[in-house]
Amino acid sequence: MPSIARALDFPVPQPDGYPRLEKEPVFDAARHLALEMPEQVTSLDALGYPPETVAACPTDLGITSAFRILSEEGAACLLEVARALMPYIRAAGERVPRMVRGGVYQSQFLRDFCTAPELTEAISGMCGAPMHPHTMPHQLGHLNYNPLEVGRNVDKWHVDTLRVDFVLFVTDPNALAGGEFEYFNGTMDEVRALREAGQDLPAEKIMQAKVPGAGYGVLQQGNMVVHRAKGLREAGERITLVNGYVPADMRYPDYTRYDQLSLVDPEQIAVSEYARHIAWMGRESLGNQLQGFEFSDDREGFASELERVAELLSGAAQQLRITEKPQMDHFGD
Ligand SMILES: [Fe+2]
Repeated sequence: MPSIARALDFPVPQPDGYPRLEKEPVFDAARHLALEMPEQVTSLDALGYPPETVAACPTDLGITSAFRILSEEGAACLLEVARALMPYIRAAGERVPRMVRGGVYQSQFLRDFCTAPELTEAISGMCGAPMHPHTMPHQLGHLNYNPLEVGRNVDKWHVDTLRVDFVLFVTDPNALAGGEFEYFNGTMDEVRALREAGQDLPAEKIMQAKVPGAGYGVLQQGNMVVHRAKGLREAGERITLVNGYVPADMRYPDYTRYDQLSLVDPEQIAVSEYARHIAWMGRESLGNQLQGFEFSDDREGFASELERVAELLSGAAQQLRITEKPQMDHFGD
């Protein structure tokens, strides 16, 4: 039986170091969203994942073709906000040289867009499974800006430490030389094996998203699809936004990696947002057990349900207690 969680509200306290933008547009879903469905969806199965792996995922969606998310006006407003956040650009470990995370604490527009119910509903529809905007605000509205050095990749080959996300083009990719979003038409294990053998990814298995313009994006199961963002071949402005989702069905194990987040976000953020996310998952899982309560002699069933929550909580506490400096996971340029 599905165990569907209620969404978690945005946190009320405001963390230090995230001043609100003084001037920004007001998000209006009716004017700014222009949601369309993707024409093509590549399933996990088509990428080569075996049935047992697919069954353990909240959706069989691998990656979609680019589809429209924002209207022209919406894309222009988002670009204005992304530029207003440029004073807060920083590096994300060794992977992304220039990005902004936590912009949803600073921009009401960004927060309202990333958590818009119409958008969440469309994403859930594409996944064929209920999704919620990510409960960790730093997993919402992540902005990547092109490195200032021409040729340097925006991001290396990697998988995400969240389940489902879309990559939205804030600037028009067709106005740029380079900066393509690419994904590997295969599995993570294939990439790992190639890299361990010191080999490049075969060109025929590297796919490029065809993006009609600003305001379009691709939806992916980001922890299953190996992807990267290429560098620009000439100077230009390339900005993308990554918005994360969590499956509402609590039966799917959490995919957050505290060690990876600790390399990217300030400690007070990574620790607090992660602990809050796990507390939510635990609360919702237990709440669903109470709600679905029925008399039964299914001793094993009760035990394993309780154990599942206990493992979630103790596993997260263990992650928070890491003592060694973690390495950033990626598959290189
Ligand atoms: Fe990614």
